[in-house]
Amino acid sequence: MKGVILAGGLGSRLAPLTKVTNKHLLPVYNKPMVFFPIECLVTAGIKDVLLVTGGNSAGDFLRLLGNGREFGLNSLNYAYQVGEGGIAEALRLAEQWSGNDKICVVLGDNIIEKNIRAAVTSFDKVERGARILLKKVHDPERFGVASLQGDRVVKIVEKPKQPESDLAVIGIYMYDRQVFDIIKTLKPSNRGELEITDVNNAYIERGQLTYDILDGWWTDAGTFESLVHASELVRKGGANHAD
Ligand code: G1P
Repeated sequence: MKGVILAGGLGSRLAPLTKVTNKHLLPVYNKPMVFFPIECLVTAGIKDVLLVTGGNSAGDFLRLLGNGREFGLNSLNYAYQVGEGGIAEALRLAEQWSGNDKICVVLGDNIIEKNIRAAVTSFDKVERGARILLKKVHDPERFGVASLQGDRVVKIVEKPKQPESDLAVIGIYMYDRQVFDIIKTLKPSNRGELEITDVNNAYIERGQLTYDILDGWWTDAGTFESLVHASELVRKGGANHAD
C-alpha cells in the first residue's frame, strides 16, 4: 500500500498564522504538524508517500522533508494543487502515481496517539473497497458523522447540525483504485468543495465500505482550539505510535 498526505488548503480557520506559511508547517508542540502524518504512515509499514500541497510555501516542504529518508521512507514524492477544491479534488492528483496500488490517505492536520498498523494490515488482505476509521467524540457536528446499523456504516453526513451518532470519521482513509473513478463523478458541495464524505458514501452504495474504531486519542489541528489541544496532547507524551 502507498500513502498520500494531503497538506494543501488555505488554512483560513487559522489566519493570520497561515498568512505567510502553510498550516501543516506550523508547530504542534515540538514538531512541524506534517511530521505526524508521515510518522503515522511509516509506523503502519507504508514507505512510499506522495505529499500533495499548494500555495506559496510549497517549496518549504521540500526544504523541510527532502527525500523523506530521515523518517524511514523509501520515497517521498510531491504534487502541487492549484487553488482550493477540497480533499477529494486534492486526492485526484494521486491517480497516476498510485498505479494499481491501494492507498492510505491521511489529512495533514490529523494526529493520532497510537498507530493504524492493524487496520492497514486488514485492508491489505481484501480485494477491493474502502476502509475508514471512526472515533467517539463530544462534538460530532464538526466532522463527518457515521450512522451504523449492526456492524455496517449505512450513511455518513458531513458536519450535520443534528448528528445521528457521536462517531466522527477521522481523516485517515484507505481506498482501492475505484476512488479515482468515484472522484470524477462528484459535484461540489455547498462549501464549493469535492467532499471526501461523498467518496465514502459512494463506497457505502457499492457495499464496499468497512471500518475500525480507532484506539487512543485523535485530534485535528485546523482551528486555534484544536491546535492548542493537539500541542497539549503531544506534550503529555503521546503520538509516539509505538503501540
Ligand atoms: C474533513 C472531512 C471530515 C472529517 C475531518 C477530519 O473536514 O471533511 O469528514 O471528519 O476532515 O479531520 P474539514 O477539516 O475539511 O472541515
